[in-house]
Amino acid sequence: MVRNIFKISVVAIICNAMTVMTVNAQDINSSKSIETKIENIISLLTIEEKVAMCHAQSKFSTPGVERLGVPELWMSDGPHGVRGEINWDNWGYAGWTNDSITAFPALTCLAATFNPNLSKDYGISIGEEARYRKKDVLLGPGVNMYRSPLNGRNFEYMGEDPFLASKMVVPYIQGVQQNGVAACVKHFALNNQEVWRDHINVEVSDRALHEIYLPAFKAAVEEGKVWSIMGSYNQFRRQFCCHNDLLLNKILKKDWNFDGVVITDWGGAHDTKQAALNGLDIEMGTGTDGLTTSTKNAYDSYYLANPFLKLLKSGEIAEDVLNDKVRRILRLMFRTNMNPNRSFGRMNNQEHIDVARKIAGEGIVLLKNEASFFPIDASKKITIAVIGENATKSMTIGGGSSELKAKNEIAPLEGLKNRYKNATIKYAMGYASGPSAYDRVIPSTLDANKLKQEAIEVATKADIVLFFGGLNKNHLQDCEGADRKEFKLPFGQDELLNELIKVNPNIGVVLISGNAVEMPWISEIKALMQTWYLGSVAGNAIADVISGDVNPSGKLPFSFPKKLSDNAAHSFGELSYPGDGVNQYYKEDILVGYRWFDTKKIKPLFAFGEGQSYTTFELSKWTADKKEYTKNESILISGNVSNTGNIDGSEVVQVYVGKLNSKVNRAEKELKGFQKIEVKKGENAAASISIDVNSLSFYDESISNWNLEKGDYIIYIGNSSNNISKKIKITIK
Ligand code: GLC
Repeated sequence: MVRNIFKISVVAIICNAMTVMTVNAQDINSSKSIETKIENIISLLTIEEKVAMCHAQSKFSTPGVERLGVPELWMSDGPHGVRGEINWDNWGYAGWTNDSITAFPALTCLAATFNPNLSKDYGISIGEEARYRKKDVLLGPGVNMYRSPLNGRNFEYMGEDPFLASKMVVPYIQGVQQNGVAACVKHFALNNQEVWRDHINVEVSDRALHEIYLPAFKAAVEEGKVWSIMGSYNQFRRQFCCHNDLLLNKILKKDWNFDGVVITDWGGAHDTKQAALNGLDIEMGTGTDGLTTSTKNAYDSYYLANPFLKLLKSGEIAEDVLNDKVRRILRLMFRTNMNPNRSFGRMNNQEHIDVARKIAGEGIVLLKNEASFFPIDASKKITIAVIGENATKSMTIGGGSSELKAKNEIAPLEGLKNRYKNATIKYAMGYASGPSAYDRVIPSTLDANKLKQEAIEVATKADIVLFFGGLNKNHLQDCEGADRKEFKLPFGQDELLNELIKVNPNIGVVLISGNAVEMPWISEIKALMQTWYLGSVAGNAIADVISGDVNPSGKLPFSFPKKLSDNAAHSFGELSYPGDGVNQYYKEDILVGYRWFDTKKIKPLFAFGEGQSYTTFELSKWTADKKEYTKNESILISGNVSNTGNIDGSEVVQVYVGKLNSKVNRAEKELKGFQKIEVKKGENAAASISIDVNSLSFYDESISNWNLEKGDYIIYIGNSSNNISKKIKITIK
């Protein structure tokens, strides 16, 4: 009894001792004293305790050191909200009643806002919810580049351009981490499809790796100061990315000075020595691949468990290797669950709902709007036919690990009913996808023909038809673990839409998806809106934009090709996508997305950066501050944005740059700056965008480094990659 009374956590003593020795608050958290504390704790740990910290003890936690008061580390998905509590030992949900949360819009929507300030709000809000749910690591954001429109997880990522993703990922991470919760940027790297994701070996040039696939991760580490990163399942140059010497030791930890923790994707570790020596710090989920359940694999048999301990005890692997992992883990703990100053978090509060609604409203992209079909006046006594399962289907569940247990979810139909009190809204499902499942398709048992006839009848009698189509979170749709098998809309939507157009041409389409889709009917419809997976407030945000309460200002974060074969990755046969089951070759190299369409002169259906407003804007007087620049300088591009319409709105000025007569193959132009500017109706706003000259470099494989070519460049200024209003020639001396 006496012993217990005096058994105070040794860690607390160390922390307190350090506190006594330090003179003021900031010293407690200064990196110097933290590093000293870390070394002290390491000196107290047994080798068994240290090894235990490097691998899971349950589905989503790693052990602490009970006798010293070192806490366990708790992780949770995902990028769009804090996932429901999972069982200790399998993927089932634990059935708690206190884990319902705010579901924020998918990161494709966040990227479509082209508004880094909203990224910060997003990160702060989701970080508060993770903190309140007592999670130390939030397993997100994902920033894998959009290479194929079939990739099941594109909805979780930030599009096809590395510069846009780099600018949008940094504030999100900063926002999460100011709550004392670690963000975990993922999946590092080259996880650009779900087909064979757990083993496919990706081959890509150094140039494309550094210019396209790494920048968002580099920004997350160097600017976002992300505290953890998740290795991806696939291989790169025949080494699994979760223990890949080039990616983790050389690029991440040496070149980028990453001082955080590398965590596997669940089941991403495959070899003890490689896991020990190639930069992995925490092994999670071995024996499962993130979606399959397997409890046969006891945690002690993990690669970084007993097999690792054995190699350490035999001296085959030096204890320093282990200490570096533990040092990083303890550093993450001092930033999170051993940080005495971290906030308390909160969740399901109005501010989070407001943030979700603002991001959703700013991310919706208006792509077509003939005869001002949108906005639809909510004061009119009209009959609106709302057709489509996507108007009522829950989109916060499904999709794989990013799925959520939303406290509330307002579907589009409900949102419209809330907003259109004077109209008569008639709903018909029109098409049916079947029950939600992540690993198999369960066809609907509803009579498809009957659904179609009912929809046609409702549409015939309406003044306006709103067709809610797109994809959903079912298997083979926008869902982890598999890719789509076709580019066209599923569940007979095209056929249904063609019937609806015949009986009522006054039709607008609202697509809900995280991917581009084929649109054979595009010329027959009056209007088109791309609204992403918008989370808890989807219906309200969609009604905000349809009614004109919110003037749309979203821009596409990825291109919509007319047909799949127009897409770069799909232009080089099976070996390019999806590979031959063993290897895959990114043959389009650096020409991903609009880079491909611009350079190959292929017109996309809708372009990267495209998006309309209910008002009109004009860019004028755009200039560069000089004609000639040298490295390390900045180019200041400035000019005017005029709102020439009669509604307040926001425009995204985009600045692309291309090299003339380059000595290497380069894209016609690449995004190097953007700014979203609010302009009141009839007014002008001055704007300026600074471009770092060094960012115009290309990755030169002959010197394995960036190379700033001298000579002439063209600066393209516009409001979309395919709507350039000004070109300026400059010279780099
Ligand atoms: C999944 C996903 C990853 C997720 C992890 C834990 O397989 O690939 O994004 O964070 O496993 O659920």
